[in-house]
Amino acid sequence: MAIPSASERIQAVRWDGKRLSILDQTRLPREEVWLSLTGARDTAEAIARLAVRGAPNIGIAAAYGLAMELSARPSLGALEEGADVLIASRPTAVNLAWAVERVRAAVMSAGPTTISSAARGEAQRIQAAEDAASEALAGFGADLLDGARTVLTHCNTGALATGGRGSALGVCVALAERHEGVKVIACETRPLLQGARLTAWELARLGIPHAVVVDGAAASLLRRGLADAVIVGCDRVAANGDTANKVGTYSHALAARAAGVPFVVAGPTSTIDPSTVDGDAIEIEERGADEVTSFGGVSVAPAGTPVINPAFDVTPAGLVSALVTERGVASPVDGASVAALLAGADAVA
Ligand code: MRU
Repeated sequence: MAIPSASERIQAVRWDGKRLSILDQTRLPREEVWLSLTGARDTAEAIARLAVRGAPNIGIAAAYGLAMELSARPSLGALEEGADVLIASRPTAVNLAWAVERVRAAVMSAGPTTISSAARGEAQRIQAAEDAASEALAGFGADLLDGARTVLTHCNTGALATGGRGSALGVCVALAERHEGVKVIACETRPLLQGARLTAWELARLGIPHAVVVDGAAASLLRRGLADAVIVGCDRVAANGDTANKVGTYSHALAARAAGVPFVVAGPTSTIDPSTVDGDAIEIEERGADEVTSFGGVSVAPAGTPVINPAFDVTPAGLVSALVTERGVASPVDGASVAALLAGADAVA
């Protein structure tokens, strides 16, 4: 099918050489509002309130946030302060700290008079590499799922969340380019509805057939044979292949295993964290109670109701059929195949 050309593609993070503009994702799908960011603090605030979101894109935004801070205040003090405030904005997606550390390393190896240009250059290299990674992994994923026509996904993993056209959703788009009849089932993704608000918005713009389902419907749809595969993104992949992703992902993995449906994780290698040994060591972000007890400003639970609101969960590697990255596909997913991906080797089984 004809998918919009590169120039028409969705891009949520734009750099004009001086300033970072982001498409405010808290306002979608109702309105398309662009925000102009100027430094580390406002970028960290935009990341924390999910105006810019998705593991790869918060890394890209953080890199530019630090670069803008250093353009305004080119000093090692500003580097440390800016890096700290950005890294603290969200804990689970490793791309954030990874990108900040890359900018910090580039600055430390630059001369004192080139601090800000070194930071800007590194941020641009990170964005270019993430764009390219997205393209490459979409191809590997579409090869892997070539026979699938209905694919179930969770959260938003498209161009709003990553460089290029996405991770898991990028695979769905590549599949739709190759074959007629590809359809995406998007789980709504409580509590903030990234699936209903954002994935459905992207798929509608791309003209790809889709349906939104409530998260609780996914297991029975899989059991009834109504999806050929599940594909999700990732926020941090531990060294042993355990994967943190948007809360609700683990339930889909269990349901997929019970139904005999492949459960695939897709993401750039910037999301693999070899220094985290396994899923138990991944810090899971706990978000505010109001995300659960109210919706659109309207209370949906009695005042003062206690809430547990983890933003992510961990799927053990043993439930993941394959991990798709820009360097190839790891299957089975375990410490050896993840290490091989990081070493750049082709780990396709
Ligand atoms: O909306 P977020 O930033 O809280 O969710 C993170 C994600 O985008 C997802 O977990 C996604 O599946 C992995 S990042 C493409």
